[in-house]
Amino acid sequence: MPAHVGIVMDGNGRWAEKRGKKRSYGHKFGSENVDRIAEHAFSSGVKSLTLYAFSSENWARPEEEVKELMKLLAQYLKKLTAKAVKKQIRLNVLGRKDRLSAELVAVIDKYTGKTAAFTERNLNILVDYGGRGEIAHAARAAAAEGAITEENIEKHLYTAGQPPLDLIIRTGGEIRLSNFLLYQAAYAELYFTDVLWPDFDEAEFDKAVESFSKRKRRYGKIGC
Ligand code: FPP
Repeated sequence: MPAHVGIVMDGNGRWAEKRGKKRSYGHKFGSENVDRIAEHAFSSGVKSLTLYAFSSENWARPEEEVKELMKLLAQYLKKLTAKAVKKQIRLNVLGRKDRLSAELVAVIDKYTGKTAAFTERNLNILVDYGGRGEIAHAARAAAAEGAITEENIEKHLYTAGQPPLDLIIRTGGEIRLSNFLLYQAAYAELYFTDVLWPDFDEAEFDKAVESFSKRKRRYGKIGC
C-alpha cells in the first residue's frame, strides 16, 4: 500500500459537458467524489492523500468557475471536518494564501485548526498551488537559513514531515504533471487513467494501487 498518494482530479468539466450540463455541475460531483475516495484511501491504509483542487494557473479560468470552486472548497471543509476529527485525520489546505479571499482564509483556518493536533494521517488539499512556486518558496526559506541544500529545501516543502510521495494518479486522460508536486514526484510512481474524476470510484482507486504494488522501485540502483 502506498503511504502517500497524490491525485490530479481531472475531467470534471468534460464529465458535465457529456451530460449537457455546465462545468460547475461536474465540479459539484467532483467535490462529492473527494469524500468517497478519501474515505476509501484512508481505510485502505494510506497515511497521506494530496489532492490538486486549484492550481495557481486556474485563476485564468472564467470568474464564475473560480468562484464556484472556492465555494465548493469552503463547503467541503465545513462538511468534512467532523468526519476528519472523528477519524483523527489532519486536514491541510496547502498553497499560497495571499490571493484567497479573507473569508475563505478564515474558513480554512477555522476548520483545519480543529484537526491540527493529529499527526498520523493527512488529507492535503492543494489550493492556489504550483510545484514551481512551492520549490521557489522552499529554496528562499533554505537560503534564509544559510544553505540551499536538499535537506533544507525538503524541510520547507508544504508536505514536510509527511511520508515521501509514492504514487501519483491522474484521471481524465492527460499524461502530464501540470505543476503538481514537482519536487516530491522525483521517485513517485505514475498512474494515468482515462476515467473522468467524478467516475473515479473505489474500484478504480484499487486498480491504481494494484498497478503500484507491481512496480519495481529501484531509486536509481540496479534491480534485483
Ligand atoms: C479539473 O477538471 C479539476 C479541477 C480544476 C478542480 C478540481 C476540483 C474539484 C474536484 C472540486 C473541488 C475540490 C474540493 C477539494 C472541494 P477540469 O475542470 O479541468 O475538467 P476538464 O479537463 O474536463 O475540463
